[in-house]
Amino acid sequence: MEHVDDLVEKAKAELMAASTTQEISAIEARYLGSKGTLQGLLKTIATLPKDERPAFGARLNAAKQALAEQIAARREIVRREELHRKLISESVDVTLPGVPLPQGRLHPLTKTARQIKAVLIGLGFEFVDGPELEDYEHNFAALNYPEEHPAFDEQMTFYVDDQRLLRTQTTALQGRVMCRRKPPFRIATIGRCFRYEAVDATHHHTFHQVDAFMVDESISLADLKGTLRSFAGAMFGEDVQVRFRPDYFPFVEPGVDYAILWQGRWLELGGAGLVHPNILEAHGIDSEKYSGYAFGLGVERIHMIRYGVQDLRHYLDNDLRFLRSV
Ligand code: FA5
Repeated sequence: MEHVDDLVEKAKAELMAASTTQEISAIEARYLGSKGTLQGLLKTIATLPKDERPAFGARLNAAKQALAEQIAARREIVRREELHRKLISESVDVTLPGVPLPQGRLHPLTKTARQIKAVLIGLGFEFVDGPELEDYEHNFAALNYPEEHPAFDEQMTFYVDDQRLLRTQTTALQGRVMCRRKPPFRIATIGRCFRYEAVDATHHHTFHQVDAFMVDESISLADLKGTLRSFAGAMFGEDVQVRFRPDYFPFVEPGVDYAILWQGRWLELGGAGLVHPNILEAHGIDSEKYSGYAFGLGVERIHMIRYGVQDLRHYLDNDLRFLRSV
């Protein structure tokens, strides 16, 4: 009997000293498990005189029961202590300053393109996308380029095969729209163009253009000039002066170049004109009844003028020092 009491006392002392649930489980296995110490005592019952056996058995069971309860109680306390320690060790000081994430921003050309779009949408244009990989037909032939014309030399490009090329001008969209729509329409597009250029501060092999055209009854050069006057006012300030001078593009007649007066100098933004009647007729639009205008401008050019950027190559370099400064 005393042996049982000794063992229970010993187990209790170990329980009080235990500080983790793992240690408690080990104590439980040691004293109450199938090979446990108290369980071991049960086997000694056979060695006792018969009349002592029931009392010993009862005593042992009571001791086991009491120990099991104490283990459960102690386990609960230790579990809570463990949780507490864990919460403290993993706690976050929410008052500490955070790790700053670098803030992104739009690329200057994206910003400029969005502003251009907003202005042209305000003037009634609908935006449509054309493919960057164009065919010869839309980039040149449908735009009234005569075969072997010197104008080709100004827009040398990258051919993928005999028929397909990287578009040199967003004007290539015109034919795609005109063969599907009936006038009146007012369409604009903005996107990347490519030319086989000797790259310098004002020419790149990859750049962006915005093109717009409208076809309706009795559209004249006055409509074109009014639209481009409004466009310049919205992009460069209402008091900006605009200039139109005769120029040649195979797809317009008459053709003009379009410039603004900026800090005392005339700066060209692009080309424009009245849609050539050949183009209207080629797309089944009666040129006696309908007429239209078209213009095409460099997007980089517009940003360069507004922000005084001296070198167009910056736009493709992705140097953060430049991108953050404009
Ligand atoms: C054209 O591309 C005509 N499609 C514009 C047009 C449309 C005229 C509709 C009439 C009617 P041009 O080759 O001049 O025209 O280019 C227009 C503008 O695109 C230029 O003023 C310039 O701002 C820009 N641009 C042309 N080539 C480059 C280049 N290599 N790098 C950067 N910008 C360029």
